[in-house]
Parts: sequence; structure tokens; C-alpha cells
Amino acid sequence: MFPDLTRDDVFRIETRRLWLRWPMARDAEAVSRLAGDPAVAEMTARIPTPLPLHEAERFVIRARATNTAGEGLIMALCRRGAPANLIGVISVENRPSEPEPHLGYWLGRSFWGEGLMTEAASAIVDATFAYAGGRTLASAAIIRNTGSRRVLEKCGFRLTGEAAPVFEARGGAVPSYTFRLDRAAWLDRRGTVVGGPSL
Ligand SMILES: CC(C)(COP(=O)(O)OP(=O)(O)OC[C@H]1O[C@@H](n2cnc3c(N)ncnc32)[C@H](O)[C@@H]1OP(=O)(O)O)[C@@H](O)C(=O)NCCC(=O)NCCS
Repeated sequence: MFPDLTRDDVFRIETRRLWLRWPMARDAEAVSRLAGDPAVAEMTARIPTPLPLHEAERFVIRARATNTAGEGLIMALCRRGAPANLIGVISVENRPSEPEPHLGYWLGRSFWGEGLMTEAASAIVDATFAYAGGRTLASAAIIRNTGSRRVLEKCGFRLTGEAAPVFEARGGAVPSYTFRLDRAAWLDRRGTVVGGPSL
């Protein structure tokens, strides 16, 4: 899905306040601590809480393998002033049950409410359409997850329906909203968003 450009671990995306870079082995502790926080994990489909260190280590290995193969783009979020310190994760990857690549993300609780995920999501959406040439991106948010829904809306995603997928980590079916962004809408939006990124 992704080209040679993103398949090397020197690949980075820079935003106003963030670096998006490949996850590294030393990020596992932060992934375990921040994503394993129930306030974070319980809003996601797949993250268990607590998240043991060995599971976080497996996540880093899987992320790097996915990025290397170009099958997706799974990036650590770091503030630009502290590029070694992971504060969240954002990903675009294929899921077995879904026909379109899926945008997913989480941010450590103490970093919420600063607009950081909107900044990161806009950047990875731009990179996906610009570099991967895809036609559509999908995403989803648990119905009570107003913050995630707003992130998607602010990036141009359109609500397409409701579903109740079974998430093993959440112990059963979870009512969720589904979202989509297609290339035409992305291009249209790039033409109209003042100060949008130039790729
Ligand atoms: C959802 C999440 C990524 C949002 O990250 P964030 O950086 O705080 O989001 P932003 O600051 O970019 O906020 C985007 C919008 O959502 C709103 N928002 C954020 N959190 C909110 C909340 N808890 N309730 C209501 N609105 C919220 C913001 O006000 C903003 O909207 P506005 O510009 O209209 O005011 C973060 O809360 C998180 O990681 N949650 C746990 C994991 C998760 O939900 N992952 C997504 C799974 S689908």
C-alpha cells in the first residue's frame, strides 16, 4: 500500500508541534503505560488494559514489520521538542474484516485537549492519499467517544452509519459509528482549507 519512501525507518512526518516517526524498541514502556491506561484502552477496539510490557514490545515489532512491508503506516507521536518520548500512536493499515485501510489512533491522557490528534490525523491522512494513492480511508469511533468523532469530522471524514462490532479486548459487541473519507472529498477539502499542508 505504501511506497519505498515510508518503508525506511528514517521516514518522518513533521507537523506544527509533532513528529510522527516509526516506533522503536525503547517506546514499549511508554506504550504499555499510556495505552494501557483504562481511559485510553477502553475507547479502542483492541488495546487490553492493563497492557503488559511484552504486549507493547510485540506491538512495536509488528508496527515496524508492517511499515517495512509497506502494508500500513504505524507511527509514534512525539512532541517536536522531545522526539524520543512517545506520547501516542497513529496508524493507517488494512484490517482483515474491512475492505478499506483503517485510520486508528490513541494519545496519552495527559496530552488530551490540545488539538494534537487533529494535527496528527490530518498529517497522516494527507500522507496516505499523497503517497499511498488510496481511494478511501475508513475509521470508527465508539458511540460515546465524542473526542474521536470530532477528530474524524475535523479531518473531513463523513459519518456513514452505525455498527456493533465484536471487540475481544472490550468483551463483546460495542456500538460504534463508522466513518469514511474518499480521495475526491480529501482533494476538495485541500482546495478549500486555508493554510492546509502543501505536499
Ligand atoms: C480521542 C483522542 C485521540 C482525542 O485526542 P485530542 O488530541 O485530545 O483531540 P483534539 O484536541 O484534537 O480534539 C479534537 C476535537 O475533539 C474535541 N474533544 C476532544 N476530547 C473530547 C472529549 N472527551 N469530549 C468532547 N469533545 C472532545 C475537542 O474539543 C476538539 O473539538 P473542537 O475543535 O470542536 O473543540 C484522545 O482523547 C484519545 O486518545 N482517547 C482515547 C483513545 C481513543 O479514543 N482512540 C480513538 C479510538 S476510535
